[in-house]
Amino acid sequence: MEKIVITGGKPLAGEVHVSGAKNAVLKLMAASLMTDQECIIRNVPNIKDVKTMMDILRSIGAVVELSADGVMRIQAKELSWEAPDASAREMRASIQVMGPLLARLGKARLSHPGGCDLGARPVDLHLAGFRKMGAVIQEEYGHITGQSVRLRGQEIYLDYPSVGATENLMMAAVLAEGNTVVRNAAKEPEIIEVQNFLNCMGARVRGAGTDTIKVQGVRELGGADHTVIPDRIEAGTFMVAAVMTGSEIAISPVISEHLEMVRAKLREAGAEIEVAGETAWVKGNAHILPIQVRSAPHPGFPTDMQPQFLALLSMAEGVSIVTESVYTNRFRHVDELQRMGASITVDGRLAVVRGPRHLTGARVRASDLRAGAALVLAGLAADGVTEIEGVGHIDRGYENLEQKLCGLGADIHRELTVPVEALI
Ligand code: EPZ
Repeated sequence: MEKIVITGGKPLAGEVHVSGAKNAVLKLMAASLMTDQECIIRNVPNIKDVKTMMDILRSIGAVVELSADGVMRIQAKELSWEAPDASAREMRASIQVMGPLLARLGKARLSHPGGCDLGARPVDLHLAGFRKMGAVIQEEYGHITGQSVRLRGQEIYLDYPSVGATENLMMAAVLAEGNTVVRNAAKEPEIIEVQNFLNCMGARVRGAGTDTIKVQGVRELGGADHTVIPDRIEAGTFMVAAVMTGSEIAISPVISEHLEMVRAKLREAGAEIEVAGETAWVKGNAHILPIQVRSAPHPGFPTDMQPQFLALLSMAEGVSIVTESVYTNRFRHVDELQRMGASITVDGRLAVVRGPRHLTGARVRASDLRAGAALVLAGLAADGVTEIEGVGHIDRGYENLEQKLCGLGADIHRELTVPVEALI
């Protein structure tokens, strides 16, 4: 077992590199299943979720190689339609291979996805869309099985702008008979990335980034060579680190329009932020102001930045209100932040944060990926030493996090934790 150990209170300085976007690259890997040609994906982050997706693709027959400099080559010549339970259960994004397999093979079987425990995380919108396109979907014994001679293009209305359902149905529609329109589609930047990749492969997809996506079905796809966009949530996490430690740092590469809401909220909280080209300069001030935050589908405030903002607002000079409107249970980091001195009251989807609180180091445990990030940020700002267990969650989505923060002057390292039984 491992833990991250942070001695807080150190100012940060310098420039930090942002890796490729986790929530884009996982879908591009799934899309690569739809052709027997080689696909090349560049700027792939070396994170646990990428390794899990590589295991899934390999276990159904794809050849996948990832070089030390982040270049991934995927070739899916012969494919099995059944994904193994182990990896599929480990990560929710495993559901993203369902659309590509139905499109390419006409059938797919995988375990009901696992993933972060953020509350109910059904896949009903994915399955309803596949059924509308003509697939016979069965859910039994903890597995989802889909079969279809050839998917038919349809007009699909999503009850909720689900990111994953939008991407899965886009991919399924690419090889369907006829045209598909997905309405009330999610508008996240990662969906535009999937559209661009699919069109590189020869697909005809339009409208990603809006609430209406149109797909003209084609008979087959070719390979692609694509460089993944930078991770906007990793960038946002470093922005919050600067504000919480009262530091001035540069963060790059970033895509300015991907950071608009986070930048607006940090400015409201008193930070100074400038973005020029692919670099964001963030300067934290001595006073952090209380604000209201409500997570929502893009272009609203990203739910994946909510835990980090709860840590930040624990230091604000007044009462802040944070509403989590995307997930039913995304406040599991609150108890741990309270162990560090935060004063947060949760009532359903609402968190009331009273500040300023003087954060102090403690032994805490990450319950999921972004909760872990929030605890790292709190540790950077706290007085004394913070020890964070459950670092496997953090490793799912942050590449070389300690090294990057050390490069900015933080006192942070990873240690092996010796289980008590080993001492007896
Ligand atoms: C993606 O998850 C991201 N993961 C999540 O990031 C992110 O929080 C989420 O989008 C929202 O932005 C990846 O891209 C791998 P959703 P996804 O489908 O696709 C409900 C991180 O930290 N819903 O938009 O699973 C669902 O219950 C992770 O990087 C249904 O009800 O998100 C949830 O309440 C965490 N039925 C809401 O929609 C469905 O069929 C958002 O889910 C699908 C979703």
